[in-house]
Amino acid sequence: MKTIIEPFKIKSVEPICFNTKEERVSILEKANYNPFSIHANDVLIDLLTDSGTSAMSSNQWAGIMQGDESYAGSPSFFHFEKTVKEITGLPIVIPAHQGRAAEKILFSILGGKGKYFISNTLFDTTRANIEFSGAGGIDLLCEEGKHPTVPSAFKGNMDTGALKKIIIEKGADNIPMVIMTVTNNSGGGQPVSMQNIKTVSAICKENKIPFFIDACRFAENSYFIKLREEGYANRSVTEIAAELFSYADGCTMSAKKDAFANIGGFLAMRDMDLAIRCRNLLIITEGFTTYGGLAGRDLEAIAIGLKEVMDEHYLQYRIRSIEYLTNKLIAAGVPVMQPAGGHAVYIDAKEFLPHIPVEQYPGQALVGALYVEGGIRSVEIGSLMFGKYNAAGKLIPSQMELVRLAIPRRVYTQSHIDYVAEVVIEVFEKRNSIKGLQITEEVPMLRHFTAKLKQTP
Ligand code: F0G
Repeated sequence: MKTIIEPFKIKSVEPICFNTKEERVSILEKANYNPFSIHANDVLIDLLTDSGTSAMSSNQWAGIMQGDESYAGSPSFFHFEKTVKEITGLPIVIPAHQGRAAEKILFSILGGKGKYFISNTLFDTTRANIEFSGAGGIDLLCEEGKHPTVPSAFKGNMDTGALKKIIIEKGADNIPMVIMTVTNNSGGGQPVSMQNIKTVSAICKENKIPFFIDACRFAENSYFIKLREEGYANRSVTEIAAELFSYADGCTMSAKKDAFANIGGFLAMRDMDLAIRCRNLLIITEGFTTYGGLAGRDLEAIAIGLKEVMDEHYLQYRIRSIEYLTNKLIAAGVPVMQPAGGHAVYIDAKEFLPHIPVEQYPGQALVGALYVEGGIRSVEIGSLMFGKYNAAGKLIPSQMELVRLAIPRRVYTQSHIDYVAEVVIEVFEKRNSIKGLQITEEVPMLRHFTAKLKQTP
């Protein structure tokens, strides 16, 4: 088979700023070992997130010029609404300025003390919005998902046995919603199988619990189903996505991922009563129901992007490029999440840095080392992001200590990725010299964004 090439050519470029290793040592120290505090101009290859960082297509830019900025009833809204309905089959579409805004609306209405939202794995902001409402979030990741370096086809699946148990334990009335994150971002960008979605949907129906999909990366998940699940090889991604949404009562979506948009999101659902309540809150917090915190031009960019992401040449290249980096790292012995996920490579920091205990945040330490070595910015998905303290003030660590190298869509070429592999391998070779970190300042919620750290002696 020939090389799978980038299915686009480049019309507009943005220079990368180069700096030296010595400069990066001091930049990192000034940033208190937190990648969110590093200026983007001080980064060579920015793998902090795949969110809002996509390169838009010439068609999307053309759509931006056509965006209509009417307060109510903009044709750009109807283009957006029609596209979302076509792809998801969900009849009610509510725009929001990004994914978490859609979540905030939903959980403000359905959440509250004594309620539990169940998921395969909730993303950090999703969990925070649930907890902010007073409710609890419970992750029921399947057993395969908990072992980063052991390959399995659908490591994003929910443990359906555990779901049945928790419904009995907490009572269906106290579970306002089950949310399936596709692909499972915090669990390694791993896909969820159609069978799992179908089973979870059926359990929810039996118990009269609404079943929603966190659809940020629905196209990548659908492509994995095509590649890995029996019976889907000859189905189009469009058909697979339609089936996936057919099992759901609704979805939340951040258009900053699989819609190639730099901003945007939406809620979609079947239940009109819930929609009326969501729209009321939308008008108070986001904007009128036909723009929801977005400009008309953003709605155009999202509508066009949602169609482009279903292009199977694009998805083949996308999934292959993540696998390409994963395989290079595996060949060098670097412990990474296997098989490759959809939008990122996840390094197992616990195995990479066995000399650093979880209380010294091995993931965050590795994030710093990658930055110093090669100017690569990544993010910790481990105990800094998800850790909690017990009553005695001792850290309750996260299930896994991962470092995510998220690949922005259509932004970097194969040689950028080769460079990333070289840097990771170089850091791996001198891993014993990497030091642990301790927190000097933190806030109680979503602390990883603003925490200050320093190296342990
Ligand atoms: N759900 C998932 C699975 C996500 O990955 C994100 C964002 C959101 C919801 C929230 O969407 O950013 O538009 O408000 N994830 C980004 C990331 C930030 O880096 O993975 P948002």
